[in-house]
Amino acid sequence: MNTIYFDEIDSTNSYLKREYVSLSDQTLVYTKHQTKGKGRLGRVWQDDSNSLLFSILLKKDIQDKKINLLPLLTGVSLFETLNELGIVSQIKWPNDVLIKDKKCAGILLESIYESKLDALILGIGVNLNNKSFPLELKDKATSLFLETKQLYEKEPFLEIFIRKFEQRYQKFLQNDFSFIDILKKNSYLDNKKVKLNYYNEDKVCHVIQINDDGTLKVKDEEGKIYDMNSGEVTLEKNYH
Ligand code: BTN
Repeated sequence: MNTIYFDEIDSTNSYLKREYVSLSDQTLVYTKHQTKGKGRLGRVWQDDSNSLLFSILLKKDIQDKKINLLPLLTGVSLFETLNELGIVSQIKWPNDVLIKDKKCAGILLESIYESKLDALILGIGVNLNNKSFPLELKDKATSLFLETKQLYEKEPFLEIFIRKFEQRYQKFLQNDFSFIDILKKNSYLDNKKVKLNYYNEDKVCHVIQINDDGTLKVKDEEGKIYDMNSGEVTLEKNYH
């Protein structure tokens, strides 16, 4: 993977969006600090330089129906990275990684369409060495430091992640989706009551499981079963 580093940038996702034409497939850009970090749903992703902030550019021709699997594959790669560091985590479908009920990493997938799908950008934020979080995030965010009392250097973490991601991504391109087994075994949402957005309507549902194709099987309050492709899921009590 080609790697680019900036001491500071607006957002690693925005950088790749601007520069993707001249950059090669699987370029990774990381930075110490973002001045305009983006979270999902237009939210701001703030950092105090203690998080690992990076984005990966993908320029291979990826069929539309496989795109939703990429954040899941990334979540599994993060899970495997943490596992190699001796940290137990769970993957919260479809975009987050949690340690003991609190989010330690988030994934933002953006796509660039000109006349066709030109490129995909996977943006990843990992709370590595954060000592504290703003009040509104305190109950729902954590860092590797807060969980293990150890400090983590960014490059060694990235190296492990890249190795895990590249293995999974090569297989994915050959339609080997074995990462879904890891996802199913380490899914945070199984049996939880969640609120999710279904065609612009909030629905309270019970999560049954992650299906073999990576969709989320849920049951609504009338007992109707849905297989969700993507979407924002919040826990009924503990909003993540
Ligand atoms: C989320 O949980 O809302 C997704 C957060 C994604 C944040 C990362 S940090 C690196 C990359 N650049 C951005 O501007 N956002 C992503």
